[in-house]
Order: sequence, then C-alpha cells, then structure tokens
Amino acid sequence: MAERRIIELANADEIAHRVADWLAGLIEAGTGPFSLCLSGGSTPKRLFALMAAEPYRSTIPWDRLHVFMGDERVVPESDPNSNAAMSESTLLSHVPIDRANVHLMPTDGEPEQEARAYERTLQQAYGSDTLHPGRPLFDVVLLGLGKDGHTASLFPGKPAVEVTDRWVAAVPEAGQEPYVPRLSLTLPAIASSRHVAFLVSGADKVEPLRRVLAGEPLPSGRVTSEGEVLWYVDRAAMGH
Ligand code: 6PG
Repeated sequence: MAERRIIELANADEIAHRVADWLAGLIEAGTGPFSLCLSGGSTPKRLFALMAAEPYRSTIPWDRLHVFMGDERVVPESDPNSNAAMSESTLLSHVPIDRANVHLMPTDGEPEQEARAYERTLQQAYGSDTLHPGRPLFDVVLLGLGKDGHTASLFPGKPAVEVTDRWVAAVPEAGQEPYVPRLSLTLPAIASSRHVAFLVSGADKVEPLRRVLAGEPLPSGRVTSEGEVLWYVDRAAMGH
C-alpha cells in the first residue's frame, strides 16, 4: 500500500506554492519525459496560474512535459465547466510546452467512445495496452477531493469506481455538480503513478477529508500509487 502523507499548510495560496516547488523539483531532478496528469475543478487554478508565471515559467523544462487530464466534463471547451478550458486558460496556453505533448480528453463524441479513444491515447503514450507494475503510466497525478468524497469523476456508488479492466471510464451520471456526463481515469490508471498529490482547501472539505482520513472507502480514500499519496491540505479543510 502506498505511503500516505498529510502536509498541512496555512491556506490555499501556501498549498499552491508548496506543490509548485515540489513539482518543479521532481521535474528538474529527472532527465527524460515527465508525465503530469492534471486535476479539474477550481482548487488547482492557483497552482496552475503560479506555474504559468515566473519563475516557474522559465525554470520548469516544459519541453519534457507530457500533460494529461484526470477527468473531464463532456461539454464543449467553450463551456465554463470544461476542465480543459480551465487548464488552458490558467496554465497550458501560457507556457512553452510542445502542443503535441498536451493530451486533453475528447468531448465532442459519445462518452463511451471518447473514453476508449482517450484510453488509446494513454496506451500509445505508455507504449503498451497493459499497465506494468514498476513502470508507472504517470510521474505525477494531481487530484482534488469532492464534498461527497469523490475524486476525478469517480463518485461514490457509481459504477466507474469499480472499473478495473479499463484505464478510462465514461460516467453518464455525475454524482455532484456539474451534472453532465464525465470521462474519468479509473482507480487502476491513477494507481499507475510514482506520486499522487491531492490538493484540498477550504472548510467545505472538512467532512469528506475527515471521512477519508478515518479510513472510509470513499473513491478518494481508495486512491493508491506505486510511490506515495500526498495530501496537501490547508487548516480550514482540517477544521482548525
Ligand atoms: C472535477 C474534478 C473533481 C474535483 C473535485 C474538487 O472535474 O470536478 O476533477 O474531482 O477535483 O470535485 O473540486 P474543487 O477543487 O472545485 O473543490
């Protein structure tokens, strides 16, 4: 079982700075391609904006980055609920990343077909259609925590949480707003990672975070990694 570490910080801004430094350090410590899976929702916006600004914009070797999405709302990119649009406007359109290495989830077709298409994208990037222990698909997976304990678009009680034979699942019914169909990495795909980092901020996350830390098998609590699962949380989310 992956090591779980809780890193409690003062507020959302401190989480963004700490995670930006941690990510930059990981990327700069390596030499080859670095695969980073982005989370959706609103919490990552501060982190993404920070990474798009100096010094990170100049110091991170963006040419080595391969960027993927952990989940997506099946809406046009013009829709304010689009995770791709959020990632583009806060980060991707501001950094010198090779666009051929940016892999957003397709949302213009039927969700099941788009889930399979994205799974093929991941398999092409990985070089196999089987996940091999010891050779993780992602270097880092960033995740958020929903008020119901979901993460990515794996909602409690929904079938996608239990999918183990696919890397990407279609989620016809979201368990939390926005109630639109979703695409989501599955738990095995998330587990094929060197590091998972949850970013959790705000008093509205006290309840789900307490439940996860108490060991409830919520989707976010079932996330594992080949390396470590870090929880970057602020005092408000810890109820302090
Ligand atoms: C999504 C996200 C989702 C998010 C949590 C937390 O597409 O909705 O991937 O898993 O991380 O719902 O969202 P906030 O950061 O907006 O609280």
